[in-house]
Amino acid sequence: MTAGGHRIALRAGAISFRGNPFLAPAEDCFTHEPDALLVMEGGRIAAFGAYDAVRPTLAEGTEIRAFPDALLCPGFIDTHVHYPQTEMIGSFAGELLDWLDAYTFPTELKFADPAHADRIARVFLRELLRAGTTTAMVYCTVHPQSAEALFAESERFDTLMIAGKVLMDRNAPDGLLDRSVRQGIDESEALIARWHGRGRQLYAVTPRFAGTSTAEQLEAAGHLLKRHDGLFLQTHLSENRTEIDWIAGLFPERADYLDIYAHAGLVGPRSVFGHGVHLQERQFCTCHETGAALAHCPTSNLFLGSGLFRLFDALDPRRPVRVGLGTDVGAGTSFSALATLNEAYKVAALRGDRLDALKAFYLATLGGAHALHLDHRLGRLEAGYEADVCVLDLKATDLMALRTARSTDIADHLFALMTLGDDRAVAATYVAGRCVYDRARPGDPFRHAAEA
Ligand code: GUN
Ligand code: ZN
Repeated sequence: MTAGGHRIALRAGAISFRGNPFLAPAEDCFTHEPDALLVMEGGRIAAFGAYDAVRPTLAEGTEIRAFPDALLCPGFIDTHVHYPQTEMIGSFAGELLDWLDAYTFPTELKFADPAHADRIARVFLRELLRAGTTTAMVYCTVHPQSAEALFAESERFDTLMIAGKVLMDRNAPDGLLDRSVRQGIDESEALIARWHGRGRQLYAVTPRFAGTSTAEQLEAAGHLLKRHDGLFLQTHLSENRTEIDWIAGLFPERADYLDIYAHAGLVGPRSVFGHGVHLQERQFCTCHETGAALAHCPTSNLFLGSGLFRLFDALDPRRPVRVGLGTDVGAGTSFSALATLNEAYKVAALRGDRLDALKAFYLATLGGAHALHLDHRLGRLEAGYEADVCVLDLKATDLMALRTARSTDIADHLFALMTLGDDRAVAATYVAGRCVYDRARPGDPFRHAAEA
């Protein structure tokens, strides 16, 4: 420890964004530093730039850790994931509604046991860090202790997590329903009082989706959202055609799926809607105007056969919608942002669009931060930003080394990373300036912040 707190410097190549390459020329948005020095102190980035420029400013005695054949990258941001579903990833089923009944609800019932919640929260946080993900927007289950377990483990790593207890009051097994609208809101309030803004933890009011909440519960969630500063809202939207038709029947008085949420006061800045695969132009406009975001979850949409998200329409420069990348585990099939980008590329390709590597890495970093309205804190390698960083190994596998040897520019390096890479390509993960995951560490590669 130094007087200003824990200080460490990392030397490697580095990439970072300062703008949105869907809206402006890539050269105006993107920084690549072939030999960078990143200095972290007191949880923040103290300096970042070319090694030759930053080295002379470094306080004497600062440890410099060099990573050869690696790229420093802002920690990945997963804007939609269900931690209770970690153990059911890759379960064979039909489309969304069948999959929910067959696997999801029975799996979430197990969170009535706090010890189970603790165990899965532990596994989940480690899977995120192993994949280089440092912030996620996380669904828990209806049980308050599921949120308690997630926040407690996140606090130990000092990760910035946004999470909430799920609200459901119909169309699910009894053991997964709030006993009343009032009780679900009271339990959410208690979790907000305990966790929202404690350290880096933030709370998201979490009605699962319109299919499992009554209009009364959605309305109560909308009131709750307004009672505390800086709360988030997460739910699902227009994922699957059968789901959309079913929900239209549950809310015949509403103009469309998004209008159900808008009517309840749930659409605004820091609202993040999972999927939005089948949205109309009118709904994209509403998201643009209100500052609400969509979480694009390509591995999930392919796994469940939900459809092909219109990424380039969502980001139309005439009315760009905030879009983040989501893994949506357990419907999603990987915790890795790299593996998720691999599928995002293919989803775009099937729609006749090409997702180049710079746009892709923007989505997984600064784009996610922008979707969450946290782009003043997260998503960039820049002095003053919170020091969440992943170290990407360009030669993680023999095949990656072979492929990378023929790359001549950074865009091609990144494209190879997102096509071939996954958690094997993450050499280390730093959270608030501390090394919480180091692939090369003998024994346990993970360390809680206090021990890192
Ligand atoms: N819609 C409502 N609940 C869920 C869920 O758990 N996963 C997905 N992918 N969609 C949902
Ligand atoms: Zn989901």
